[in-house]
Amino acid sequence: MNTVKQIPAYQRVLMVDPQHFDIQYSINPFMKDEHGNLKKVDKAKARQQWNALAETYRKLGLDVVVIPGRPNFPDMVFAANQSMPYWSLDKNVPAVVMAKMQSDFRKDEVPFFTEWFEGEHYSMGEITGEPTMTFEGNGDVSIQGKRPVIWAANGPRTSVEVAEALHKLTGYEVVSLRLQDPRFYHLDTCFSILNTDTVAYYPGAFDSADVEKIKKGFSRQIEISLEECRDSFAGNCHSPDGKHVILQQGSPKFCAALREHGFEPIEVDTSEFMKSGGSVFCMKMMAY
Ligand code: ARG
Repeated sequence: MNTVKQIPAYQRVLMVDPQHFDIQYSINPFMKDEHGNLKKVDKAKARQQWNALAETYRKLGLDVVVIPGRPNFPDMVFAANQSMPYWSLDKNVPAVVMAKMQSDFRKDEVPFFTEWFEGEHYSMGEITGEPTMTFEGNGDVSIQGKRPVIWAANGPRTSVEVAEALHKLTGYEVVSLRLQDPRFYHLDTCFSILNTDTVAYYPGAFDSADVEKIKKGFSRQIEISLEECRDSFAGNCHSPDGKHVILQQGSPKFCAALREHGFEPIEVDTSEFMKSGGSVFCMKMMAY
């Protein structure tokens, strides 16, 4: 058996063209305004913001692969949710576990991604078991950089049994976290692994036992405040290379903390996408 101990770095970023991005239903606490109406998307502005994010990745040397958006899938632009690509240590090849999305509005986005991964000859996997089990891909699970460890959240979107299923499928160690606060409905809204040693997170989204797991699992933890996590989606930041951190503008305290720890924050504007409950981390998928 040809095995590797360390996980290779991703070289590509998958993004979904925002042509069909819109808010047509509400499935998280962000999508309606204070009067209970669906928020309105400025499509031209969304397109500009999306282009700028893609350009940010390109400037960092990553290859951006664009999957076309599809009519009737206004949330498909959130490419973090339909899959979990990983490196198969047994087979020494790129592999993926496809999501089983919770919302009827979104679950048929998954086959478009399956098609892409199959075309790239990934080793394909899916969650089996109870039909009621749901799994929202990298929205709720995150791999610890070069270590074969998956941080797997359960709560509003992903079932608790998924942790065990992922362990069986991937052979990776899986650490379970329970999301405690409905505003932080996906793990990637409050927890971002910046590199193998470092996590940025909002402790209030977890109970004290899970905070202890996080403190044990990473030699460096950068805490995000409730305000910056909730209002500026700081917890949805993304480090594609373990050094630069791309994030929504408007989190000065978190940016200062990142700099103190030797990271380089790159601020972008994702305000149109935040109306739908997502920012940088949600808008892409890292791939081989
Ligand atoms: N409106 C989308 C939903 O509720 C936003 C998804 C954001 N993605 C994420 N990974 N947090 O499903």
